[in-house]
Amino acid sequence: MDQYAVFGHPIAHSQSPFIHQAFAGQTAQELEYRAILAPTDGFAEAVRQFRQQGGLGANVTLPFKEQAAALCDQLTERARLAGAVNTLHWLADGSLLGDNTDGAGMVADLHQHGVTLTNRRILILGAGGAVRGVLEPVLACQPRQLVIANRTASKAEALARDFAGLGEVVGCGFDQIEGAFDLIINGTSASLSGDLPPLPPHCLIAGGITYDMAYGVNATPFQCWGERHGGRLNLAGLGMLVNQAAESFYRWRGVRPDTGPVHQALLARLE
Ligand code: ATR
Repeated sequence: MDQYAVFGHPIAHSQSPFIHQAFAGQTAQELEYRAILAPTDGFAEAVRQFRQQGGLGANVTLPFKEQAAALCDQLTERARLAGAVNTLHWLADGSLLGDNTDGAGMVADLHQHGVTLTNRRILILGAGGAVRGVLEPVLACQPRQLVIANRTASKAEALARDFAGLGEVVGCGFDQIEGAFDLIINGTSASLSGDLPPLPPHCLIAGGITYDMAYGVNATPFQCWGERHGGRLNLAGLGMLVNQAAESFYRWRGVRPDTGPVHQALLARLE
């Protein structure tokens, strides 16, 4: 049977096998998808072995996304700009293509919730790998302005310079955030430790949208912040997870799964 996998360290928590097996069942594709714990110093070797055993494609999660980009023979433009790969695909000629579907997954999730990014004023929090990974697809939607705010302002400014060719994008520190935004996306790792980025009180428009790239069984601190500050829709990253998986599945199999039922099944599974 066609072999796919997700590589990470740790990996036991990964929902990707559940998601891809659900996609396969739904679209009648015969494939196997498993989680592989790669040693922190042995990612390239683990991928090589998987390929030798007949692997056709794989997802890559923390902490290997940058290493995955370095392994590839060619990268999609969005993966090149992200400097990170979450989707490996061995092509018919045996070469390895790297893609990054994280940003497309987030934008698809927002669109499924009726949120458009075009002509909106968007604030994105954080300037690490997670934020870099989504900037190209967000800017491709042509927001009116994208502000990147980070605890370490210089990192946000550097990121904004890297992406300046793709649209109106500026970087700053949290204390330099000015005005109100239609959409605020949290891409910091603050949620993971139960923390909240230090946001000024009036930075979300009335009825605006918040989106936490992290997710949990309960609402994240940033989702709660959105609820307290008049957010109409305060989303977390589970939909991003399902949609980035759907983008990978489409690349490998040429079939677009219906993400809605799988998102619902995942919610029930995590409860
Ligand atoms: P990831 O790959 O998840 O993006 P990362 O590259 O280590 O991880 O980046 C983590 C991001 O979360 C950074 O933008 C970091 O801010 P700094 O660049 O100033 O370190 C941000 N971050 C982490 N904890 C935070 C907190 N408690 N409050 C605000 N920002 C935080």
